[in-house]
Amino acid sequence: MTGMLEGRVALVTGGRGGAGRAVCERFVDEGARVYAADLTPHGSLGSTDSAGTFVQLDVTSEESVRAAIDTVAAEQGALDILVNAAGIELELTIEDTTLDQWNHIMAVNVTGTFLTSKHALPLLRASEHASIINFGSYDGYIADPQLAAYCATKGAVHALTRAMACDHGKEGIRVNAICPGYIDTPMLEQFFPDGVDPRAARAEAELVHPLRIIGTPRDMANLVNWLASDEARYATGQLWVLDGGLSAQIQQMRL
Ligand SMILES: NC(=O)c1ccc[n+]([C@@H]2O[C@H](COP(=O)([O-])OP(=O)(O)OC[C@H]3O[C@@H](n4cnc5c(N)ncnc54)[C@H](O)[C@@H]3O)[C@@H](O)[C@H]2O)c1
Repeated sequence: MTGMLEGRVALVTGGRGGAGRAVCERFVDEGARVYAADLTPHGSLGSTDSAGTFVQLDVTSEESVRAAIDTVAAEQGALDILVNAAGIELELTIEDTTLDQWNHIMAVNVTGTFLTSKHALPLLRASEHASIINFGSYDGYIADPQLAAYCATKGAVHALTRAMACDHGKEGIRVNAICPGYIDTPMLEQFFPDGVDPRAARAEAELVHPLRIIGTPRDMANLVNWLASDEARYATGQLWVLDGGLSAQIQQMRL
């Protein structure tokens, strides 16, 4: 690797999930000191075999967010990169979504991004290379069936990304969101219908993409890494779609 993030300090929420782990691994490869923040040390992957120092974090709790940021401040005295990758999905129409489910997905995907960013700002302001990368989704632009609340959270993350970039650009803090499509993580497994052979579902999903492939966590980590680096010094307030061309099509025909 090229040492693009040599000496930088990074905090990655959802750091023990599919996307978060890949980001932590890439950041470590690039020379960063990385904190992988998640509900549990094994996250969604069911494994503690992951890059970065684990820090316990529930992004829905302000107290927990404060404690995680305090840990980074006490151990490193600095923070250069915040990646808000913690997220959950809910496969329901609004009619089938309870108010508790709605509030919970909003709390994790939207309030979590708000709280972690808010409490990271004092450290980021002191950095000369400050970058926040949020996790939106192509579902914040267009909708998959039965993902109503999830789509709403990602639209909110997109709007919040632009607003934060406008407010904090003058402080030297860049804020971007990546907007993945189908990426091979535990969240995608959950998205495939019950009772359908996952290999058949994956093959079907590949067919609707112009590139005829599903993305990998590494694809997300590569884009996040660039956005975190000085190569992206002029990039802020943008939503970076990474979906194998899926959203470029007028309809998903099998041509
Ligand atoms: N996988 C995809 O196809 C896809 C597509 C578009 C966007 N995304 C987004 O990418 C991000 C990462 O998703 P992923 O695919 O890695 O999912 P994942 O389920 O593998 O990982 C998510 C991680 O977030 C953690 N988490 C959940 N609630 C939390 C909380 N309250 N506090 C702290 N951590 C919490 C989980 O423990 C898990 O480790 C999410 O925001 C997701 O919406 C994923």
